Amino acid sequence: MDGKILKKLRQELEKNKYILLERPKIPLTDDEFDKLEEILICAERNRSGGPKLAKDNSSCFYEIDLQTSYFSVSKQSRVEYEEEITEIIESDEMINLYKKFTGADEVIINSPQVNILNTQCWIGRHRDIDCENEEVFNIVIQLGKIYDGGEFVIYLEEKLQEVWLPYRSMLIFDLRFEHEVKKVIDGERRTLVYSLDC
Ligand SMILES: [Fe+2]
Repeated sequence: MDGKILKKLRQELEKNKYILLERPKIPLTDDEFDKLEEILICAERNRSGGPKLAKDNSSCFYEIDLQTSYFSVSKQSRVEYEEEITEIIESDEMINLYKKFTGADEVIINSPQVNILNTQCWIGRHRDIDCENEEVFNIVIQLGKIYDGGEFVIYLEEKLQEVWLPYRSMLIFDLRFEHEVKKVIDGERRTLVYSLDC
């Protein structure tokens, strides 16, 4: 990525506490996106139980921990999963991107999960972490091809910012701020979500 563009995006992240990246700024190939979608479908197939009320003030939505659901049938399969997902979201290019945007020398990727919001579902306003000092960013990769509504909203004090995530885009946001996902009004919003400890 061009140095000037990177600087501009970093300033944007600093100011707005989120940025939305689209290709070619995301170092993922078509094959890697295809693979992520395949992983998501496998995770969904292997999930246990129905939709759960994951947060206060939310509708029911699927929150699938990839480590326990994707290819959960055998230990061997679990190893395959670890390798496949790691190859994609922890590739040198992706790690470089995380570091460039967060400014951290080292990042730790935490438990990837899949969130599936069907039509009429939403995630209410909440904050995932309480610690103000600890820098944690969330990465959201949009893998839902056809959906409407489901805008991501982040609150900076009383200012509200809203963004709709196009198919195969990537959102980076500062997890210390309150956020929500508005009601999906059509289709299915499917995302791969993981956090970066810096
Ligand atoms: Fe959240």
